[in-house]
Amino acid sequence: MDKKLKIGLIGLGTVGQGVLKVLSKHDDIEVVAAAVKNINKKRDVSVKNLTSDAFELANDPDIDVIVEVAGGTSVFDVLKTAILNKKHVVTANKELLAKCGSELFDLARKNKVVILYEAAVAGGIPIIFPIKSSLKANEFTAVAGILNGTTNYILTKMDEDNISYEECLLKAQQLGYAETDPTGDVEGFDAMYKIAVLSNIVFNKRIDVNKIYREGITNITSLDMKLADEFGYKIKLIALAKLMQDFQGKSALDIRVHPMLVSKKRALSDVKNATNAVMLKGFPVDEVMFVGPGAGEFPTASSVVGDILAIKAEIHRGDDILPMSVCHHNEFANQIDVEHTVNCYYLRIIASNTPGTIGKIGLACGKYNINLSCILQKGVNDDGSATIIVITEECLEKDINLMIKSIEEDSKIKVLNRIRVM
Ligand code: HSE
Repeated sequence: MDKKLKIGLIGLGTVGQGVLKVLSKHDDIEVVAAAVKNINKKRDVSVKNLTSDAFELANDPDIDVIVEVAGGTSVFDVLKTAILNKKHVVTANKELLAKCGSELFDLARKNKVVILYEAAVAGGIPIIFPIKSSLKANEFTAVAGILNGTTNYILTKMDEDNISYEECLLKAQQLGYAETDPTGDVEGFDAMYKIAVLSNIVFNKRIDVNKIYREGITNITSLDMKLADEFGYKIKLIALAKLMQDFQGKSALDIRVHPMLVSKKRALSDVKNATNAVMLKGFPVDEVMFVGPGAGEFPTASSVVGDILAIKAEIHRGDDILPMSVCHHNEFANQIDVEHTVNCYYLRIIASNTPGTIGKIGLACGKYNINLSCILQKGVNDDGSATIIVITEECLEKDINLMIKSIEEDSKIKVLNRIRVM
């Protein structure tokens, strides 16, 4: 019989417990120790050795693989130590990979170990390994997705139940989707880390997470939802990365996270609740979309345990296992500033109901070379003001900003929301 694969588990929260439960069906894999913040906390699962010092695991010669599901960047030194001690790493930690992945991947390559991270992006959806293997023949031009389940749940509820962002956030917290401090999800940080990790492997370039443009969902109102629906769109938090073959004479990447009006004709518009989706566009495959559970105990454990089993299947080969999983690129991408991106825009404007207001908006659009796709006012509001909706054709972000600044010079015109359109 093969030697058992020995695991050191860092983190015994929801995902860690899921990993233990799934691994209990695998006699050939043993979790020899787990590192947790509080060893006295009551848990549904038990591990032979519990410690509050994760370095014990990283330095334990009996352990083959460190499985890290604790999250955050404070585990960086522990994982570094584990890699220097020739341990393979399985992690679900998108924040760590987005911020410090370069150093860890270089170190792993030098030490002939692998870092697998299927669970770091879109939880239970297999996306990392398919990009590195089955889709390897492709030159990708774009990746876009719904990578955060909490925000997708909130936006779905706002749309379907016509209730406010605050009420939906509360529901998401009661159901355990959103955390007590929801900033990481609702302000788009979680999706930003995930698109950084995805872009890295889709475009074979290192990504500077600090250069990714990020906007959360806290400014979206149920009125925006209703209006978007009337115009044939759903509002989603979209994480995207696009290749620009020729940006000022060089190739560049446009990477960002922000809400978008997504046409109901697009499959992404129909991805509801906590479900995630990733759409890839490239040659020769054209367009493919992966949909599934983006978080949760068992979906995430599915990806973590899949990675552990991949290592188990190859570890007897010694050095250079899973060669397709090794990160071989180290050139940083040329990431463009959001000002240079091209988008269609939805604007919700409030103005006094006076002659010439729509004319002023139209003239400002003309001045900045912005073609209108639609401009609409439906009567007047109870307080006598007018809500005017504008949807533009594609234009430069820089120009829409100048146009907004120019119309707001009139104190009776205010752009209450500006949302990009897909
Ligand atoms: N909090 C994330 C989400 C899951 O809501 O999708 C973990 O990344």
